[in-house]
Amino acid sequence: MNKYEIRVMLVTGCVMIIFLFALLYNAFSRKIDVPSCVPYSKIFEHPQLKKIDDTTYELYVVAQMWAFAPDEIDIPTGSTVDLFLTSKDVVHGFNIDSKAVNLMAVPGGVNTATIKFTEPGTYNIVCHEYCGAGHQNMLGKFVVKDE
Ligand code: CUA
Repeated sequence: MNKYEIRVMLVTGCVMIIFLFALLYNAFSRKIDVPSCVPYSKIFEHPQLKKIDDTTYELYVVAQMWAFAPDEIDIPTGSTVDLFLTSKDVVHGFNIDSKAVNLMAVPGGVNTATIKFTEPGTYNIVCHEYCGAGHQNMLGKFVVKDE
């Protein structure tokens, strides 16, 4: 090992220590945290599937690390769902298998889509936006059944 390599390693080590210190300082003494509520619309306090009539539903979904609420939505075949989607913390994705629905769940905003389920089956929902350590487990589903 020559003296330049040692110098590079020393500088790198010092920068890493500074980063680590900055991270811990921000996390603990400045109490920086992600928000844990949805302050702008009361309806999202209770994420829910609301039945409007026999074939029409309104669905209010809240995404947060690392789950959707609700995460299983049971509806009869032929239903039309008006989806309202938001996030409690960071940006998440909301993609429904076999449906042309690909939304972002954004804190502070509501994204919407209207989805018609004409065939029975299970339609999986995945978060397709990297959102942290549990991202790959952030799943949900629509279960569509004939009545
Ligand atoms: Cu939520 Cu990835």
